Amino acid sequence: MTKLGQLYSLFDSVKLPENLPYTQCSKWELKFLYLVGRHHLTGQDRIVELGSGGGGSTYALALGLHESPVFDEMTGRLHAYDFFRVGKGTYATEKFLDPGHEAADDNSFLDDFKRRLDPFLPFLEIHAGDLWQTSDPKDTSPVEFLHIDIAKTDRVFQCVSERFLTRMRPGTVVLHQDFAGPRLPWLHHSTGALLPYIEIAGPPIRSTLAFEVTEPIPDDVMKRITEDDYTVDEKLALISAVQDRIDRDHTGGIPFKSVLEMGKAFVCHYDGQHKRAWSIAKPLQTDEYLSRTRADHFAQLKKAYEAEPKVTTMARLKKLVGKK
Ligand SMILES: C[S@@+](CC[C@H](N)C(=O)[O-])C[C@H]1O[C@@H](n2cnc3c(N)ncnc32)[C@H](O)[C@@H]1O
Repeated sequence: MTKLGQLYSLFDSVKLPENLPYTQCSKWELKFLYLVGRHHLTGQDRIVELGSGGGGSTYALALGLHESPVFDEMTGRLHAYDFFRVGKGTYATEKFLDPGHEAADDNSFLDDFKRRLDPFLPFLEIHAGDLWQTSDPKDTSPVEFLHIDIAKTDRVFQCVSERFLTRMRPGTVVLHQDFAGPRLPWLHHSTGALLPYIEIAGPPIRSTLAFEVTEPIPDDVMKRITEDDYTVDEKLALISAVQDRIDRDHTGGIPFKSVLEMGKAFVCHYDGQHKRAWSIAKPLQTDEYLSRTRADHFAQLKKAYEAEPKVTTMARLKKLVGKK
C-alpha cells in the first residue's frame, strides 16, 4: 500500500469545521483533501487545485496544510484556479455566491471566495479566469499535487493534461474529483494509459479517484494523452484496464465498474458511433445506481441512437457485394 492509501485509516479522526464554505464535494472527499494536506504534502513542489469553486475543497486542503508539521506557509503555496464567476459555460453554480449576494456585473464570486479563505490567504495563490489564460504554457515546474475538479469538457481536459499532467513526477498525487462522471471519459482512459506508472491509492472516495505516480511517465505516453491520440477501441481497452482495478467506492455507494462502462458508451457517442454507444448503455439500465442517478445520460444516448439514420440489412448486403 502506498503512503497515500494509509490515509484511509484516518478518516474517522478528521473533524472538519461546521461552517465550511458551500461545496459540491462530499464530506468524505473533503476529509481526504484535509488528510492529504495534513499528512502527505510538503510544499516543495507546486500544490495545485483546478476548479476551486466557492472554496469548500480549497478550505479543506488549506486547513490540512495549515496544520501540517512540514508545510511551510512562508514558502509553500497552494495554487487555486477557477473562473471565480458564474455564467454560461463556466460550470460554476450561483451557490458559490454568498447568500444574499447578487452576482455583481461581472458575476464574480472572487471576493466571497477570498473572504471565506481568509485564514489561508498568505499561502494561497489565486488564478482567476479561464484556465487556458491563467495557466502558463511555459511553466514546467514539477507538481506535487493536483486536485482536478475542472475537466468538464475535453477542451479543458486538454489544457489540464498539456499544462499540468505533463508536470507529474514520481511522488505526484492526483485526485480526479469527477471520476464518477460517465460523460467525462477522458478522465478514465487517460488514467488507463497511466496505469503502468501510477498506484491507485484505494477505492475511490465517493466520486474521487486518488493515485500516486510511482514511475517516470515516458514522454511518448504523455504526448498521446495530451494529443488525445487513441482510437475508440484503444480508449475502451484503457477504460477496461481501469475497471479491472476498481470496484465500489470506499463508502460502497458507487459501482465504478458500471460507471466506467457507461463512460465507454460516451466515448462512442462523442465519436458519432451512436448505435455502438447505445448497445453498451442499454443493458446498464438494470444497474440500480445508474438508473437512479443517470437517467438523463441514458436519455441522451438513446435519443442520439434513435435520431441516427438506420442502415437496412439489404443496404448493408448491397454495400458488401459492391452494388449501389
Ligand atoms: C464542480 S465546480 C468546483 C467545485 C469545488 N471544488 C467545490 O469544492 O465545490 C467546477 C469549477 O470549475 C470551474 N471551471 C470550469 N471550467 C473552467 C475553466 N476553463 N477555467 C477556469 N475554471 C473553470 C468552474 O468555474 C467551477 O467553479
